[in-house]
Amino acid sequence: MSPLLLLVLGLLLPLLLLVLRGRTRREDEPPLIKGWIPFIGKALEFGKDAHKFLKEHKRKFGDVFTVQIAGKYMTFIMDPLLYPNIIKQGRQLDFHEFSNRVASFAFGYPPVTSKFPGLKEQITRGFILLQGDNLTPLTESMMGNLMLVFRQDYLDQESSWKTAYMYKLCNSIMFEATFLTMYGKPPSASRHSGMSVLETDFIKFDKMFPLLVAQIPIWLLGRTRAIRERLINYFLPHQMSCWSHSSEFIRTRFEMFEQYDTLRDFDKAAHHFAILWASLGNTVPAIFWVTYYLVSHPEALQFVRRELEDVLRLSGVEFSRDKDVMLTPAHLEKLLYMESAIEESLRLCSASMNIRVAQEDFSLRLDAERSAAVRKGDIIALYPQAMHLDPEIYEDPQTFRFDRYVQNGQKKTNFYKRGQKLKHYLMPFGSGASKCPGRFFAINEIKQFLSVILLYLDLELEEGQSKATLDLSRAGLGVMLPAEDVRFRYRLRPV
Ligand code: HEM
Repeated sequence: MSPLLLLVLGLLLPLLLLVLRGRTRREDEPPLIKGWIPFIGKALEFGKDAHKFLKEHKRKFGDVFTVQIAGKYMTFIMDPLLYPNIIKQGRQLDFHEFSNRVASFAFGYPPVTSKFPGLKEQITRGFILLQGDNLTPLTESMMGNLMLVFRQDYLDQESSWKTAYMYKLCNSIMFEATFLTMYGKPPSASRHSGMSVLETDFIKFDKMFPLLVAQIPIWLLGRTRAIRERLINYFLPHQMSCWSHSSEFIRTRFEMFEQYDTLRDFDKAAHHFAILWASLGNTVPAIFWVTYYLVSHPEALQFVRRELEDVLRLSGVEFSRDKDVMLTPAHLEKLLYMESAIEESLRLCSASMNIRVAQEDFSLRLDAERSAAVRKGDIIALYPQAMHLDPEIYEDPQTFRFDRYVQNGQKKTNFYKRGQKLKHYLMPFGSGASKCPGRFFAINEIKQFLSVILLYLDLELEEGQSKATLDLSRAGLGVMLPAEDVRFRYRLRPV
């Protein structure tokens, strides 16, 4: 059974017994689509391929429809011109109720409720430490750690061609560089021992993540509980307090959790582990896809590499085999075509469902003419992947065009639906209240990773492989992984 299907079923487990109970419909409610058995019928269809399911229902029922899935009413808004009205409804449509429930279940900490006064607000306030002026030290630290790992593991080799798996390589470099940047270094070494064990456990946990989001009890998932416990135990406060050079973001969270006697050490560690997942779970697949697309489009790769070399030359930045390159946020900002290639990969490979839960019965204003009745507890869902692959907005939507987001030497932001300019045309990071607080850092670190491999390595795909395809089990949850890893060759460039 696909994890997305389990997600749909599991999310709503408590309502299982109520599924056959209908409700009296009001005239202004959107068209309601029920399965022959409301519980299984629609959930099965939806779980198999959400994109196809939603496209077909949009064709039959229009841009706004409600699906009764597993006894719960989910209203899908399919017209991206209506998105702004939904996104600004922060008060009546809440995101955190849902995310808090799902995250505490998946990562194993107690839900952030009034039992911990002020904790929710402090956590949210802390997200600022991933943005604005705080982005500079974070990005600089990432650059240093990326070079440290890359140099020791890849640069200190002879320059013959070598074969590797692409996802595996992206993951191993980013896992350690991210860990060092976020949580810091051990007392008397520049790298932590046991990283590869931690990384292996992380990959195993990550595979089960969609099932945990679906609220499938962890005891049903084989060794996942033991693996999660090992991962969490890595972040126990007595261990973390020995590490130096951690990010301001993690240091602040560490001190914040220490104020709560009601949180056990294990709970605090589980919160830290959740951030490890947040900072890697989408970033690594995003890095994989942009690397894959560039390597499989050599002319795009050459263009992006040339742009990078020009930016470095004009800024007087030197690098060589023996000298680490240092890209600051100011350099990264100038990489217009690289950013476009990253956004194009996110357009093709991200599928983050935006979910809001109605806090009361109310009439949701859709546009100047229309509104839709929603009831307390109903889910309102945006599924931006449908917009990302809409041929009216993006010509030839299945094709990777590295320069799709550049126009006349500037960032292109004008995309249209029915002749109207879209406010939201690319949404890999969610929207409004739930928008990813790490998005600026994510784009910076993806650029840094690409810069390092493009500057120091020649890269080629191994022949005789079919095209990489998406593993749909994560559809709805973020950037999708490749169904299978890709083999490629690399060698050191003469720099
Ligand atoms: C390409 C990389 C990334 C993508 C596509 C991404 C996407 C997202 C999305 C879609 C959400 C909202 C979840 C939802 O609506 O259900 C989210 C939340 C979050 N992300 Fe990211 N993210 C990325 C990288 C990062 C990084 C690098 C960090 C941190 C260092 C981070 C930290 C967070 C946190 C803490 C939240 C939860 C926010 C909250 O509870 O309000 N993300 N991310």
